[in-house]
Amino acid sequence: MISAAAPVIDKVSARRSRLDASSTRGECLLARFHEVRNFTTAVCASLEPEDFVVQSMPDVSPTKWHLAHTTWFFETFILKKFVSGYHADVPEYAYLFNSYYNAAGDMHRRDLRGLISRPTVREAQRYRSSIDSHMENLLSDADEDLIDEIEPTLILGTHHEQQHQELLITDIKHVFAQNPLYPVFREHKTNIASAKPAPMRFFDFDEAIVQIGHDGHEFAYDNEGPRHRALVSAFSLASRPVTNGEYLQFIEDGGYARAELWLSLGWMTVNEQRWQAPLYWVKRDGAWWNFTLSGFRPVDESEPVTHVSYFEADAYANWAGARLPTEFEWERAASDCPIEGNFVENEAFHPQPAATSVQARDLHQMFGDVWEWTRSAYSPYPGYRAAPGALGEYNGKFMCNQYVLRGGSCATSRTHIRRTYRNFFQPEKRWQFTGIRLARDPQ
Ligand SMILES: [Fe+2]
Repeated sequence: MISAAAPVIDKVSARRSRLDASSTRGECLLARFHEVRNFTTAVCASLEPEDFVVQSMPDVSPTKWHLAHTTWFFETFILKKFVSGYHADVPEYAYLFNSYYNAAGDMHRRDLRGLISRPTVREAQRYRSSIDSHMENLLSDADEDLIDEIEPTLILGTHHEQQHQELLITDIKHVFAQNPLYPVFREHKTNIASAKPAPMRFFDFDEAIVQIGHDGHEFAYDNEGPRHRALVSAFSLASRPVTNGEYLQFIEDGGYARAELWLSLGWMTVNEQRWQAPLYWVKRDGAWWNFTLSGFRPVDESEPVTHVSYFEADAYANWAGARLPTEFEWERAASDCPIEGNFVENEAFHPQPAATSVQARDLHQMFGDVWEWTRSAYSPYPGYRAAPGALGEYNGKFMCNQYVLRGGSCATSRTHIRRTYRNFFQPEKRWQFTGIRLARDPQ
């Protein structure tokens, strides 16, 4: 096992603390911009240049590409629009670092991003610095009217970068997992054995008509609206996510070999991919181990199970005599939960063990640790229309063949998640920190 350096993430809020009540809106926005941008740099601090360029599968992007693509976003949607006479240093980056915005022009093939050795990592970092300087100049000189125009896209750009911080972390995990040396991204903070979690309980919710979606105050993605009423029938929700220990029982009960537990497409996938356990699990000498961002470790039975697909989550729920919650049930239950948990700011980069005791109606780990698969197809809310233009491509065009996940993970920023946040992935994807919370119909 080799170990990269383990620097502590800088106190990126230092710049922010210099703001006071007399700070202008432009200064506040710029501080937020730098805060998010610096966090990206800090996340990469333990990586070596060779780590930045590997693409271990089509879903994974090289770290270098994330650094440049998030920079391209600000250049394309802010600098090119609001800086008169703006000239890109390297016009070809518009092609190389566009992800999927057809209205912004042609783009390089996603699955070939790992073949791009130039620009170098150093040049990608120079590109970031250069665009940061341009942004600083623009915001420093902007009057209130211009700030009004820039602000929505700038805030979107910071949230976009936070999404890529999470992808960068899950992508580098997949890259490191291919390496027999099992590189360490960050040292594990503690080696204390976890205590046995409190048993899973189910809390009942009565039938109700509830408000679903974002209320429009402060930032939200367009897919979180319009806010609307929804009838949510009576249901029960589990007090915490499913643990590795519970998932092991499913494996040992032949869960991966029992067709009756699986959706047809899931059964096909299990057999094609020869899945026998969550991604990153390996059985050695009769014991299960898993690869984490702190290296290769025995599976901790008290942690929430993670890196499972929708298919596995659904099969597990069937085996357990339960089901997955709908996203409306989840949002209703979360309305009383504080947005606290194990987020990326903790620098654990791994789900934390379940609590050893549960109070009455205490839902645990609703936020952070693992994204929770819901049984809701990712589709538009009533009245949803994607905005015209390139930024309208951000969410709307993906509303097909994907499922909604809720709550954020150990790789999500605390300042990025909301109760109404709708993440989405195809049902076979496993490389994000995805987990399972059970629901039940009234008994
Ligand atoms: Fe992106």
